Amino acid sequence: MKIIMLGAPGAGKGTQAKMIADKYGIPHVSTGDIFRANIKNGTELGMEAKKYMDQGLLVPDELTVKILLDRVANEDCKNGYVLDGFPRTIPQANVLDKALTELGDQIDFAIDVDVPDENIVKRMGGRRACLSCGATYHIEHVPPKAEGICDTCGEKLVLRDDDKPETVQNRLNVYHEQTQPLIEFYEAKGVLRTVDGTQDMKDVFKSIVAILG
Ligand code: AP5
Ligand code: MG
Repeated sequence: MKIIMLGAPGAGKGTQAKMIADKYGIPHVSTGDIFRANIKNGTELGMEAKKYMDQGLLVPDELTVKILLDRVANEDCKNGYVLDGFPRTIPQANVLDKALTELGDQIDFAIDVDVPDENIVKRMGGRRACLSCGATYHIEHVPPKAEGICDTCGEKLVLRDDDKPETVQNRLNVYHEQTQPLIEFYEAKGVLRTVDGTQDMKDVFKSIVAILG
């Protein structure tokens, strides 16, 4: 099963994608997590991506598309995957579409996790992230067992650089301009499904499972 998660920054794409990956036994592929891991390890790709990410801008398509296509060509993706944060522009969607078509394949579902902008800004300030394993917490909704420490790997949790309020607003603007058009793109392909992302995260997941079967 090949799934795309759509939705604004902070809508809960990552939270839901991890649950989908666990339940259906497919890898969770997040371009944001790949970039953050590269930043943490000080790679050239990481340094280049950071320039854009810290301003809430998109990393250029040339860089993003290549890392995504390399990742999904891995053996572990052969039975499917859940993409989180990719595609984010129409050109990225076209590249993915072309690559899949060449393999005689296609996306099964594009799930739009729908959350209004007002809710998003409130959520982001409370998010804490583990830059080591990609786990995500929320100081109110999903607190870690020990304050500031990742339950999974024991690393220190951080407020992401791009979760500052002024950067969140930029990310939302970029989302509306460049990413929201993908909703129509996947609707036209007949694979778009929308879930109400303002529900409790367990209920969001129930709505997704009802779609995926
Ligand atoms: P990325 O890492 O993809 O960030 P994003 O899209 O901005 O989304 P987030 O990870 O912030 O939010 P999410 O929807 O995953 O929400 P989460 O589950 O964490 O990208 C970061 C940057 O990398 C981009 O800005 C760009 O620069 C670059 N980039 C990445 N991919 C790219 C691409 N394809 N092209 C170009 N550039 C790219 O949830 C948010 C918080 O809310 C958490 O604290 C969570 O615990 C909580 N929460 C989740 N669900 C609920 C709920 N139902 N109720 C209450 N709280 C909830
Ligand atoms: Mg995420």
